[in-house]
Amino acid sequence: MKVKTTDLQLSHVIAEDIFVNHTLLVSRGTKVSSDILSKLYIFRQDVNVYKEDENEIEIGTETEKLSDESALVLSDKIKERARTGVEYMFKCENADEIVSTANSVSSLLMEEIVGKSVINVSLTALHLSDEYTFQHSVDVGTMALLIARKLGYAGVELERVGLAGILHDIGKTKIPNSILNKPAKLTDEEFTIMKAHPVYGYQMLVESKDIEEYVRQGVLQHHEKYDGSGYPLKYAGNKINMIARILAVADVYDALVTERPYKKGKSPEIALEMMFGMHNHFDIRIVQAFLNTIILHPVGEHVFLSNGEECVVEAQNQGYPLRPVLKSVSSKQVYDLVDPSCLSLIIVTPEQ
Ligand SMILES: [Fe+2]
Repeated sequence: MKVKTTDLQLSHVIAEDIFVNHTLLVSRGTKVSSDILSKLYIFRQDVNVYKEDENEIEIGTETEKLSDESALVLSDKIKERARTGVEYMFKCENADEIVSTANSVSSLLMEEIVGKSVINVSLTALHLSDEYTFQHSVDVGTMALLIARKLGYAGVELERVGLAGILHDIGKTKIPNSILNKPAKLTDEEFTIMKAHPVYGYQMLVESKDIEEYVRQGVLQHHEKYDGSGYPLKYAGNKINMIARILAVADVYDALVTERPYKKGKSPEIALEMMFGMHNHFDIRIVQAFLNTIILHPVGEHVFLSNGEECVVEAQNQGYPLRPVLKSVSSKQVYDLVDPSCLSLIIVTPEQ
């Protein structure tokens, strides 16, 4: 909701990224402080804030049931065009060309996402990785767009996220191939070199005037962690660029589920559990939006429950992709896995 700057209170949380001359003044999700108030008094007459209860993560309330009919499955043609575009982008030597190619790929993904009014994405259907960095860029760009949309981004704000998602690892072109494609775990020294890729990416993008500084910062900060333990700047909390916070969630998930020469990909279930364990690394609102975006078990899928029963997925529980509504094949009993009586039950996934 929009409020006059003069009516802002310290309990309000800002619901938009506020720029002054392309520089971010206040990021979405920031709680109003006296310092922020004084800045906003100067630059803005009114500002969008979350309604009192809108910013809270709902826990223990009635869970929304939803069908997954509108789940996004990117067509093979789109995937191929996007992947080819990113492959081309990684070969460009001119910064303007890199940015314009990334813009085209991002627009392609945005058209797919916005045009279909997609609300959920089946990530297993989305993920198709062989040439890691190219496909990773497309996957992260797509997931970042979906998360951002869930957070209420639209128009130019959404475009910035898509662009940064496609570009986030462009600095890897400066990392030696022997490190980038090493079929084993990196040594400490190699990892130090690898950790320079966000800085290289930023330096490459500084050469183009066609990209905003805020998007460049998203690329620079995509490995920052919410608790300040990331790199290269060791920023923490709201100091981290909002696009980078979105990219961090999409990037880590994609890295976990992707098979690499030196590691097997985790199942989506295990990847999510591991991310819950790393919750200090992420902005919780973005993790929540991510959980609201994904479907792990589409309606109609057969799964095995930890009590040994074979079940069919009947419906999703929004925000709880590991806990859909199931119906037993033999007894026809319905298990709503978010129901307190079912909390001891989990879906058993095959060993990876
Ligand atoms: Fe990266």
